[in-house]
Amino acid sequence: MNESPFCIEMRKLSSDTRRLGRRVIPFDEIDSTNTYALAQGQIGDVIVADRQTLGRGRLGRSWFSEPGLGLWFTAVLDDPTEGLTFAAALAVREAVAARCALKIKWPNDLLCDGKKVCGILVESRGGTTALGVGLNVHHRREDFPEELQEKAGSLSSVAGGEWDRAALLRDVLNALDQKVILLTSGGFDTIRATWAEACDLIGRRIRNGSNEGVATEIDDHGAILLDTPAGTKRIISGEIEFLDGE
Ligand code: BTN
Repeated sequence: MNESPFCIEMRKLSSDTRRLGRRVIPFDEIDSTNTYALAQGQIGDVIVADRQTLGRGRLGRSWFSEPGLGLWFTAVLDDPTEGLTFAAALAVREAVAARCALKIKWPNDLLCDGKKVCGILVESRGGTTALGVGLNVHHRREDFPEELQEKAGSLSSVAGGEWDRAALLRDVLNALDQKVILLTSGGFDTIRATWAEACDLIGRRIRNGSNEGVATEIDDHGAILLDTPAGTKRIISGEIEFLDGE
C-alpha cells in the first residue's frame, strides 16, 4: 500500500545527526504513540501519528487527537531522565517562539492567550522512557469537543497563519535534542532554572486542590513550595489555578 503524504513527510525527518529522531516512525492512525513507544520503541525513535484513537493525557485524562489537526508524537529515551518534562516544555516554546509566545503553566502545559496549546506526558517502563508531546496546530474553536472549547487553543487559532506539521516536528526535535544533551551532561540546573523562571510562579497566589497560598519557591524537583495559612505545603502534582489572574 502507498504511504500517505503525512507519513512520507514525517519519515523524511529521520536524521543521523540527531539523537532523538534518528528514526521517525509515522502512522496515519495508532492507539497512542506513547503506548507504541513503551511496547516496541527503540532508543532514539520518534513515533508520530496523524490520529490517535486512545491518546492519553496526565491525570488519567484522554487527549483529543483527531487527524489533520495536531502534532502527536513520542520520543523514546533510555531511562527516566530527571528534568525531561522541563526540557520538553522549553523545546516546544523555543521551536515556535518566532511566531507565537507560549507561556509555561506549571507543571508542563504550554499556553497562549490563556488557552492550552500543548501538553506533555512522560511515562517509563522497564528502562524505556516515552516522552509524549501533544501540540494543537490547526484546530478552530469548533474542532474541539464543546467541553474543551473554552480552555484549549491551537497555534493557528491563537497565532494565525499556516503551520507545517513536519517543519514543526523538525524544529521541536532539534531543540529537544540539544536540551537532552545538555541535561545528560550536567546541565540539569540550567534547564531547571530556565523552566522555573518561565513558569512565572513566585509571589503568585494559587490554588492546588484544597491548598491555597502564595508560591515562594520551586525546588530542585520542580515542586512548588506554597505558603499557606497552615504552613508551607509542597505541591508535586495536579493542576494549579491562579487566584490573582492569569
Ligand atoms: C497532558 O495531559 O497535558 C499531556 C498530553 C500528552 C498528549 C500526547 S499526544 C502524543 C502522546 N501520546 C499520547 O497518548 N499522549 C501523548
